Amino acid sequence: MASTPPIIAPSILASDFARLGEEARAVEAAGADWLHIDVMDGHFVPNITIGPDVVKALRPHASIPFDVHLMIAPADPYLEAFRNAGADIISVHPEAGPHLSRTLQRIRELGAKAGVVFNPSTSPSAIEHIMDQVDLVLVMSVNPGFGGQSFLSSQLKKIETLRRMIDASGRDIILEVDGGVTPQTAPQCIAAGATALVAGTAVFRGGPAAYADNIRALKAG
Ligand code: DX5
Ligand code: ZN
Repeated sequence: MASTPPIIAPSILASDFARLGEEARAVEAAGADWLHIDVMDGHFVPNITIGPDVVKALRPHASIPFDVHLMIAPADPYLEAFRNAGADIISVHPEAGPHLSRTLQRIRELGAKAGVVFNPSTSPSAIEHIMDQVDLVLVMSVNPGFGGQSFLSSQLKKIETLRRMIDASGRDIILEVDGGVTPQTAPQCIAAGATALVAGTAVFRGGPAAYADNIRALKAG
């Protein structure tokens, strides 16, 4: 497992919002595997970012998969709009609605991969009985809402637990980590069993000329 480099998903949240299309093209050219898009509603999390129209406007600027992280409640009424806008993976927090299983089913019906996001306080048991409906697990290593926060090493144990659950399921579920991922913390995530890393600050720092080196540094971990 250690020999396969992790999937790197730059979080567009840390890019220059006045140049979103160029930023998406630049990270793809720099070696990004996916584009992570943080959707916040000012209600589920204390910040407001982007909606389906912006995702749709971004779509022609990149051919890599769009990894859409919904930090909105409710999420169900907006799943179709994000899928139609070009989302390839749609991840939801269990706390965002009363019927996680139904939400995951709907995401798959729409033709996207279904992800479940774990806040620092959310237990892995949230998906214990619905592993067959999950394509991706996203462990938050910060409290969601803002980029640029420090990595919470308390979450490493949860990554290990979810790694064991995924292996036991025998299913090809991606294990992604989001928040405070840097060249220093990335190796800890990989050692705990992560196969994909979201990084905002660590990719976009230094401007476009630095993106390729920044992504390489994360993969090297
Ligand atoms: C936080 C978001 C993250 C964030 C990561 O709510 O889900 O994707 O953009 O940013 P960094 O890498 O700067 O911690
Ligand atoms: Zn995110």
